[in-house]
Amino acid sequence: MTAHSLLAGRTIIITGAATGIGQAFALGASAQGAHVVVADMNSAAQTMALIAQAGGRATEVRVDVSDPASVQAMADAALQATGRIDGLVNNAAYFREVTLTPFEELDPAQWDRIFAVNVKGVWQCCKAVMPAMRRQGSGAIVNIASVVAVAGQPGYLHYVATKGAVLSMTKGLAKECGPMGVRVNVIAPGFVITDATRNRPVEWQQSFLKARAISREQKPDDLVGTALYLMSDLAAFVSGQTIVVDGGHIMY
Ligand SMILES: NC(=O)c1ccc[n+]([C@@H]2O[C@H](COP(=O)([O-])OP(=O)(O)OC[C@H]3O[C@@H](n4cnc5c(N)ncnc54)[C@H](O)[C@@H]3O)[C@@H](O)[C@H]2O)c1
Repeated sequence: MTAHSLLAGRTIIITGAATGIGQAFALGASAQGAHVVVADMNSAAQTMALIAQAGGRATEVRVDVSDPASVQAMADAALQATGRIDGLVNNAAYFREVTLTPFEELDPAQWDRIFAVNVKGVWQCCKAVMPAMRRQGSGAIVNIASVVAVAGQPGYLHYVATKGAVLSMTKGLAKECGPMGVRVNVIAPGFVITDATRNRPVEWQQSFLKARAISREQKPDDLVGTALYLMSDLAAFVSGQTIVVDGGHIMY
């Protein structure tokens, strides 16, 4: 295994890969030799261009992870491109639209929408890739939760609840998919600077920074190594695990 071949020959679907953390995952997986399926409900032209500039190969797919037909079309497109699906990173989320709101004032329609994307979406994506992974007898799924699922966070109850569901689903899926040769793990990022969070109150950002063992801003690239490890054979005996990547704030 060379330093640039952790994922050589593998096809990896990354949802929410148009921007932010998903884009960083896509570039990292491509640099390690994967054919990346860049899946997002918005244009992922920038991610595609960056992968092409670096000499990688990728397929762009428009998907709404809350829509089962759209998710099936995403899996079909991956199979059409390369004939296999080795990995899935469930990164897309209803997140940047979330605003600080006391739980008693949350809009029920927003509650349903966030569960449709963040929970049902993860289930649908796992379901869509499973026939290919079962056929191959191998696969790796990495879900993206959040430290708020471990530590709690006032004002975001619907979002916190969805990420808690992602942690639990990871464990249930790991047990159910292990016999098929499929590993399922979850990363819980801390507060990461992306377009989704840049406008959060400065005091809020500072409070996270101060609480960290490594007291600096967290960037999307800080999560890439953990995701690549979990997708690769280096983690061949690791399943059902939650890895908190937050600079040593929450020690879980
Ligand atoms: N940024 C943080 O501080 C932070 C912290 C913890 C966890 N996370 C999680 O990390 C992930 C990425 O966060 P980010 O900061 O990069 O957010 P972001 O908003 O920049 O990126 C999310 C991407 O998902 C896409 N998306 C949203 N809904 C979708 C849908 N229904 N179908 C397909 N694509 C959809 C968006 O178009 C966007 O490209 C999310 O799961 C988020 O909950 C982020």
